[in-house]
Amino acid sequence: MSRIQLLSPRLANQIAAGEVVERPASVVKELLENSLDAGATQIEIDVEQGGMKLIRLRDNGGGIEEQDLPLALSRHATSKILVLEDLEAVSSLGFRGEALASISSVSRLTLTSRRSDASTAWQVQTEGRDMEPVVSPAAHPQGTCVEVRDLFFNTPARRKFMRTEQTEFKHLEEVVKRLALSRSDVAFQLRHNGRVIHQLRPARTEQDHERRISSVCGPAFIDQALSLDMTAEASGLRLWGWMGLPTFSRSQTDLQYFFVNGRIIRDKLVAHAVRQAYQDVLFHGRHPAFVLYLELDPKLVDVNVHPTKHEVRFREGRLVHDFIFRTLHRVIADVRPEGAVPPAGTSPDAGQLAASAPGASGQSFEQGRMPLSQAPLGPSADAGAPHSPSTQQGGGFQGAAFQGGGYRGPSASVVRDQISGYGALHVPANSEQDAAQQALANAQAQGEVAPPLGYALAHLHGIYILAQNEQGLVLVDMHAAHERIVYERMKQAYETEVVRSQPLLVPLSMAVSQSEADCAEEQAAVFQRLGFELSRMGDESLVVRQVPVSLARGNIEQLIRDVLSDMITYGQSQRIENHINELLATMACHGAVRANRQLSIPEMNGLLRDMEITERSGQCNHGRPTWTQLSLAELDKLFLRGR
Ligand SMILES: Nc1ncnc2c1ncn2[C@@H]1O[C@H](COP(=O)(O)OP(=O)(O)OP(=O)(O)O)[C@@H](O)[C@H]1O
Ligand SMILES: [Mg+2]
Repeated sequence: MSRIQLLSPRLANQIAAGEVVERPASVVKELLENSLDAGATQIEIDVEQGGMKLIRLRDNGGGIEEQDLPLALSRHATSKILVLEDLEAVSSLGFRGEALASISSVSRLTLTSRRSDASTAWQVQTEGRDMEPVVSPAAHPQGTCVEVRDLFFNTPARRKFMRTEQTEFKHLEEVVKRLALSRSDVAFQLRHNGRVIHQLRPARTEQDHERRISSVCGPAFIDQALSLDMTAEASGLRLWGWMGLPTFSRSQTDLQYFFVNGRIIRDKLVAHAVRQAYQDVLFHGRHPAFVLYLELDPKLVDVNVHPTKHEVRFREGRLVHDFIFRTLHRVIADVRPEGAVPPAGTSPDAGQLAASAPGASGQSFEQGRMPLSQAPLGPSADAGAPHSPSTQQGGGFQGAAFQGGGYRGPSASVVRDQISGYGALHVPANSEQDAAQQALANAQAQGEVAPPLGYALAHLHGIYILAQNEQGLVLVDMHAAHERIVYERMKQAYETEVVRSQPLLVPLSMAVSQSEADCAEEQAAVFQRLGFELSRMGDESLVVRQVPVSLARGNIEQLIRDVLSDMITYGQSQRIENHINELLATMACHGAVRANRQLSIPEMNGLLRDMEITERSGQCNHGRPTWTQLSLAELDKLFLRGR
């Protein structure tokens, strides 16, 4: 082995660059973050050949003093932190003091800057293996300009990893989009080979903010997104932004932006909380879209986890997970026809959570106008079968009876009974055709707000319900809508009923790690509530004696292992509930009224009223939409009818 020697500053910087400067996009990320940290309100980015030939970024921020310029390009030099305590509560995007040094070691970098109180601008470059800074006067308005030419010209290995101009530009554009989303109050301009690609004006109002989201994420997203803003007073956590409706799902995770104190992050804990919130409203294999901002005391989050700062560590991980999950879950649960009010007891604290679809009318729907939820429905369940709680609540679904200790799917006869129960709602009218018209007119005459989904007109091919509401025509997929109603009722019934367990013929012994065994012991009450009897046998072994009846045929061992792993990582697990919900969903799907069953007008009206009070009624259990609205204006457009 050769003797130990000190590396030259350039080589040391080149090694450090390996971690943060992967491609032109990473250079743009670092430069943009510096501009934002410098308080810029206007940023222009010029790029040639996907950033491989040139990246020039100009801002109107605070600028750098002449004496500080040489330091700006040296490693371990920063104006953002000074002592260890600062590192524990970082409020700027940068703090490592090495981005510019790294970039300038693998490119031809020129930094020009002028502070507002300086009479002239100054410029700095580095030379040689020692990266000696050379400062000279220059002409420049207040702010900073960084020019990066010929990236990786001196590191051929890295150069080889660069892709085509188009690919590199796509990555770079994505970085600009992320930062543009993180700071709507800042103006951004991006030019590629002389052509303007993005021109984003600063947002001052809520509307401007939505416009920024729309130009970055596409207008379809904002049209189908729910806005939310939730603050947890006690912990000082705030979550706000937009979440795509479950029906606006994507095949990829490409429209997912999560910012923590203005920094975009990819975090396992956050991803898990979001996934769980969308659980059971998304079509299998689809991904949600969202732009969400989490704000919390910088002391509660460690950003010094990875050189690229894409990861963070929350000091109160469980609390954050729980807050994100609960907030998003609540917003999704409230997706139902506009104007409908949630059933009593399920509404969020109105003072804290404000979630609305863009353009939501905010009208309230009187509980008194929902006869189905009040009136008992159809004949009572078969003799001998204990009543499900939904029966006692007067809910429309009675099929999910607990028989023989476990859930059985609702039988065909029960479904028939239930559907015929909708007949209790008869809207008196001369003929079925004008029943809807009359009901709407009656409602208006009495100064009442008509139900959001209106009144049924007809049943099309035994599949779609056509209804008329104030806006125009409502189309409902009968099976999908009923499936969601049945499913939500079954879940409610299951939650309020004591879960039934059954003893295993042969108790199941499981070898686990010590931390898993500790966790199982600590969480014994949780397992018990879900129908498991689980005890510790030794340092590293568990024994399972009872399991929930509905899961008795599943792979119990695997389920328990997964649950323990979730509990250790995220502080909680929804796996058991998810498995039970999956089962219920399958039963609901089979139990829901099938296509080609002709419904009468009162039956259809009953279904519409039920949809209005059912959580998540905008999608069926597979994430498909259950209904859609065609306004009179849209109908007029179809017929080229000028109004
Ligand atoms: N656009 C800019 N406007 C004003 N000052 C800047 C600008 N860019 C860089 N600086 C100054 O140069 C210093 C070094 O920047 P550099 O990006 O290398 O490090 P940093 O931002 O402090 O930390 P990090 O390595 O985490 O990005 C910054 O601390 C800041 O004082
Ligand atoms: Mg920086």
